[in-house]
Amino acid sequence: MVQCDDRSETTTRPATEPFPDGFLWGASTAGHQIEGGNLSSDMWGSEWAEGSVFAEPSGDACDSYHRFAEDVALVADAGLGAYRFSIEWSRVEPEDGWISRAALDHYRRVIGECRERDVTPVVSFNHFSTPRWFADRGGWTSGDAAERFGRYCEVTAGHVGDLIEWACTLNEPNLSAALRHIGVAPVGGGVGGGDVHPGPTEAERARIAELRARSAQTYPATMPAFQGAPVEVMAAAHRRGVEAIRSGPGDAKVGWTLALIDVQAVDGGEARRDEAVELAQGVWLDVSAGDDFVGVQTYTRERIGPDGIVARPDGAETMLTGWEVYPPALEHSVRAAAARAGVPVLVTEHGCATDDDELRIRSTTEGLEGLRRCIADGIDVRGYLHWSLLDNFEWISGFGVTFGLVAVDRTTFERTPKPSLQWLGEVARRNGLR
Ligand code: BGC
Repeated sequence: MVQCDDRSETTTRPATEPFPDGFLWGASTAGHQIEGGNLSSDMWGSEWAEGSVFAEPSGDACDSYHRFAEDVALVADAGLGAYRFSIEWSRVEPEDGWISRAALDHYRRVIGECRERDVTPVVSFNHFSTPRWFADRGGWTSGDAAERFGRYCEVTAGHVGDLIEWACTLNEPNLSAALRHIGVAPVGGGVGGGDVHPGPTEAERARIAELRARSAQTYPATMPAFQGAPVEVMAAAHRRGVEAIRSGPGDAKVGWTLALIDVQAVDGGEARRDEAVELAQGVWLDVSAGDDFVGVQTYTRERIGPDGIVARPDGAETMLTGWEVYPPALEHSVRAAAARAGVPVLVTEHGCATDDDELRIRSTTEGLEGLRRCIADGIDVRGYLHWSLLDNFEWISGFGVTFGLVAVDRTTFERTPKPSLQWLGEVARRNGLR
């Protein structure tokens, strides 16, 4: 039998009480996953490289670069009060040192639209994709990466900082440490198979392969964010970003967002688990000390035995990513993050990739019950942003892996809210589960 330290909650207070006044309820997205046509980014290059690991290219994505007002309206009309999205560095600075005033104006309009609709913008300055010129210089491992990122943050904060209340510098800079030390593929993977979406048809794949063979891209065929840099390097970039945003106009709260899988020990795997958690999460959470918040992003658990990752329990429900549906991960990760980082928590991502919207509602409800228990125990949680507002481009998995509260037609880009959007909006209006 598998013995597991499935940490249970430490309070018996009901999870049905209201959330604190001013609690932010919202939904998250990321530029490259929804905007479309992100031509100057390294990600686009990798999607079109011969033999690319991406199931399909991002293409027009959800066309949100043009339809952002519709997206903000979906958030506002549902009753949600916050929208997290990212500014694309490669649009703002498509060539090293050349700033696009038009792109900055565009993002100012997106933020303005949020404020018009009484939606708090939570703005990520980087969400995985970087400009091609930055990747060509060695990406995060080049000597001046922190300087270059700081320069971009400075110019961007200078243009939009007066309108922002929450700013995230880097998204999941610990992703590649999670791959290495925990041994998982947090995007598009999972242990032991599962209910993984098949993706594009054979014919579509053949056509994409043919076009890729012609495209002459020189980019690595893997996802660039998988080749992350060590914590010291990413921490330096984060610090430069924080400084730049803080010294610009406005008084946004600034932090970074981390991939915090709930890692549990089974069958005597405690030592191995502790080491993995320390290297993939602990040292990254330490960097948040002194920030205004830490963004917690959590979806599932992984179990580690003395020999590494253990397959999920027989019969466990799975997402389209192949990950186990495990709602207590939210409570466990928030407790662990708050304890280690010692700063307020903003849940910047949490969700369920599924075609079954009832499962999305059920698993999110259970996750939120745990989050409410964290608050009852005195943990300072400022908000909950569901991943994701839209069915979007799920990186190497493509469009078949659907996390959205809203479906998006792949040809017309028409948005169709799912019942879960209305459900989360009602939770927000009540400021509580019941
Ligand atoms: C990322 C998102 C991604 C989500 C689901 C997080 O790793 O920040 O961009 O879509 O998880 O895989």
